[in-house]
Amino acid sequence: MQIIHTEQALRDALKAHNQIAFVPTMGNLHAGHLHLVKIAQTHAACVVVSIFVNPLQFGANEDLANYPRTLEADCDKLAQLGVDIVFVPTVHVIYPDFDGVDLHQSITVQPPPIANILCGASRPGHFAGVATVVLKLFNMVQPTVAVFGQKDFQQLFIIQSMVRQFNLPITIIAGETMREPNGLAMSSRNGYLNFAEKAQAVQLVRSLKALVASVQLGHHEYEKLALHATQQLMEQGWQVDYVTVRSAFTLLPPTSSETELVVLAAAKLGKTRLIDNIQFCAKPLK
Ligand code: PAF
Repeated sequence: MQIIHTEQALRDALKAHNQIAFVPTMGNLHAGHLHLVKIAQTHAACVVVSIFVNPLQFGANEDLANYPRTLEADCDKLAQLGVDIVFVPTVHVIYPDFDGVDLHQSITVQPPPIANILCGASRPGHFAGVATVVLKLFNMVQPTVAVFGQKDFQQLFIIQSMVRQFNLPITIIAGETMREPNGLAMSSRNGYLNFAEKAQAVQLVRSLKALVASVQLGHHEYEKLALHATQQLMEQGWQVDYVTVRSAFTLLPPTSSETELVVLAAAKLGKTRLIDNIQFCAKPLK
């Protein structure tokens, strides 16, 4: 496995390959990421994983400085899986005009309006930062396939829109969310939870499952169901950002004929903001 830090070395290493599967990450790899890598390995002989904690997608009061950086352990895990290349660029490589303080990334990808709702409402600029770095990484790696986790459903949706609207010759594959035995979605941010919080965190997916069960029993008052889930989580001590049922195709509130749905939630337990979602099929309205 090659660990590469510069754009030129990456281009040189990739010259010999015309089918490349790519998994972009911010490191601190867990079984969820490794699942994405395994999917990538089924799509191309050469797999590239990037590890880059992207400053452009963090807000001023977010956890950029404290974001867990575990490069050595990450590389061990990737080597064990037989990954070909790990790309670990510096901030200067990704943001060539970076002066040590300011990124000076004056041109950014303007994501679709959907980037301003749900997580985008409380994280202004987040998805522009994600789309910009992903486009840069795509330009450097030039993959044929890229794999993203479904846990970040809104991110996946925005990347798919970017690839379509910018005519990028890349197939985006969605990797299923990996969960702890109790159902908690795997996330690097779970590492911030203390022992008691980690046990409690499963309440988030449980409330989503209960909501899905109600819809599948024939209840279609999505806002009422979401409000109920929100209230329950708040009673259990969560600070809820949103719980909402959306069309899985548009991320907008579902029309009465739509049955491919997704329930999404973001909520804070103590200081840790967690997200989760479940995609499901509702019975058609009679
Ligand atoms: O999902 C992530 O880890 C990041 O948002 C990504 C896609 C690697 C871009 O920095």
